[in-house]
Amino acid sequence: MKNILVTGGAGFIGSNFVHFMLNKYPDYTIVNFDTLTYAGNLENLTAVEKDPRYRFVKGDICDAGQVTAALKEHAVDTIVHFAAESHVDRSITGPAVFVQTNVVGTQVLLDASRAHGIERFLHVSTDEVYGSLGATGYFTEETPLHPNSPYSASKASSDMLVLAYQHTFGFPGLVTRCSNNYGPYQFPEKLIPLMIANALNDRPLPVYGDGLNVRDWLYVEDHCSALDTVLHGGTLGEVYNIGGHNEWKNIDIVKLVLKEIGKPESLITFVKDRPGHDRRYAIDAARIKNDLGWVPAYQFESGIKRTVQWYLQNRPWWERIISGEYKNYYAAQYPVQH
Ligand code: NAD
Ligand code: DAU
Repeated sequence: MKNILVTGGAGFIGSNFVHFMLNKYPDYTIVNFDTLTYAGNLENLTAVEKDPRYRFVKGDICDAGQVTAALKEHAVDTIVHFAAESHVDRSITGPAVFVQTNVVGTQVLLDASRAHGIERFLHVSTDEVYGSLGATGYFTEETPLHPNSPYSASKASSDMLVLAYQHTFGFPGLVTRCSNNYGPYQFPEKLIPLMIANALNDRPLPVYGDGLNVRDWLYVEDHCSALDTVLHGGTLGEVYNIGGHNEWKNIDIVKLVLKEIGKPESLITFVKDRPGHDRRYAIDAARIKNDLGWVPAYQFESGIKRTVQWYLQNRPWWERIISGEYKNYYAAQYPVQH
């Protein structure tokens, strides 16, 4: 493993992963292949843009010619596949692009990788493919897939394509399924950065439904270290769950953010629920811990402190986002507040 192509490396987790790998492996080169949708932002990578081990290629995973050219030109031997439409709410208002990018794009990438003779292909997926849990229990890798949103249905489809290529063609694929990430560079449409940005601007904090839905939160750097672990030590054809055993009700997260920033709970506003809103996610990550020795490094309280600090110190980064096209998205998604 030497030349890694990272798809979606200008997004939230992808850009954190590029930083993580360049820091950890002096001998690797990283090619960031990203089409730069609304969620892709090269500002996330200014610290490495002059590093000779890093290259950016503007390209679309749905375009076989662009993918094949990048694989050849950079002698790519390994792929870590993040590129996707990633926001559940957007998949409810516009599912088509989710099928195009997440399903068709993954199939195009798989065919091009197979023809190129890739050595290892890590597909980055999500716990949402398992559906929703009741008050107890955990998702294991054996939990049947039961995706409930167009986003999670498209991710489940892409997981199954990767595993089918492994089974049918001996393709060197692996799949990871991680719980909710938080940390630097997360686009402010997602719960934690949205609440931080609104709190800092004294705007209402829109909590869906009763606020009692539960998510299992993991600091993004811990996700990156888990991906690195699976990339180097995982068994081909295997699925690995990733999670921090860190369940929180949404309302408690929002209160924690307000406390950290020093703003009043009166900013909290309950709004119309997300259609089909999954109630609870919780990951059993025993396989990656027991078989590969991965452990998360960050406690939630310290991770949230670091995250709030990052958004405080990088205000221009998210102010630029929320003052652009995002304003139209926000007005449509949160009509009462606008
Ligand atoms: P993101 O929305 O922040 O970034 C997605 C990136 O993919 C962007 O840079 C975008 O420009 C790029 N992209 C989109 N369509 C593309 C295309 N056709 N060709 C090339 N690039 C394209 O997403 P994220 O939150 O960083 O998530 C990354 C991956 O991790 C996704 O596959 C997602 O399903 C998965 N995941 C996310 C989380 C989470 O909590 N955010 C948790 C588990 C798994
Ligand atoms: O579980 C992994 C998944 O986590 C990833 O696969 C997705 O890419 C990622 O977006 C995330 O999905 P969620 O739907 O869980 O994340 P989101 O930040 O959109 O919402 C988290 C919870 O907060 C969810 O229960 C909905 C709620 N919420 C969200 C927003 C944006 C609110 O109450 N208000 C909001 O304004």
